[in-house]
Amino acid sequence: MERIKDRLRNKGALSDLVEERLEELWMHAVERIADDRIKAAVVYLLEEVVPWQFFVAPASSSSQFHPNWQVTAGGLVRHTTELCIGLHRHLQQFPELTDEKCVPLPKVFDTLLAAGILHDAFKNGLPWGEKTDYENHHRIAAEKWSEAAEKFGVPEDIRKNATEAIFWHAGRWTPGWTIGLHNQRSIYARVLHNMDMAFSNVDLTLMFEAKHIS
Ligand SMILES: [Fe+2]
Ligand SMILES: [Fe+2]
Repeated sequence: MERIKDRLRNKGALSDLVEERLEELWMHAVERIADDRIKAAVVYLLEEVVPWQFFVAPASSSSQFHPNWQVTAGGLVRHTTELCIGLHRHLQQFPELTDEKCVPLPKVFDTLLAAGILHDAFKNGLPWGEKTDYENHHRIAAEKWSEAAEKFGVPEDIRKNATEAIFWHAGRWTPGWTIGLHNQRSIYARVLHNMDMAFSNVDLTLMFEAKHIS
């Protein structure tokens, strides 16, 4: 994480808010990955490959598709962290992804934490552009993850499951989508898409406003 802070400092982009968002990402997502190889691959990507703008960008360049606290500086990281926080509870409903006590299997949780952390890490493309790269950001993230996972010796099934989840994270809005492909998606792809939908929902603002929480 210090490496990322240094990169942001060098760009004059490290505010208190951005630093807080980064620390939340580490605490609630990166540090919860149990497998050292998966964690090493994710940290390597965040520190060395992901554009620095990911850490300061709002979640939505148009402010239309995310709740209001995700459209400030560091909002894309906040969206990512919230998605990862929601994962554990969401996974509990799937018998095939949990143990006899309904606790998500460590391997499953790690796979989806990695996919969740990285799904929008190249959201405006590579190099980082002005707007969301709807055509390519899913593919770039999937490819970068897959390469890093190989480099760090991540088991093949975990590498593939996370790659597919990242690639299809936008569900029916993914370029090349067809109803046939939609119905063939793995459970990993469906879970990540569900989480992305839930934690980019602009209507969340209404709930939090009603409770006077900003
Ligand atoms: Fe996305
Ligand atoms: Fe997203």
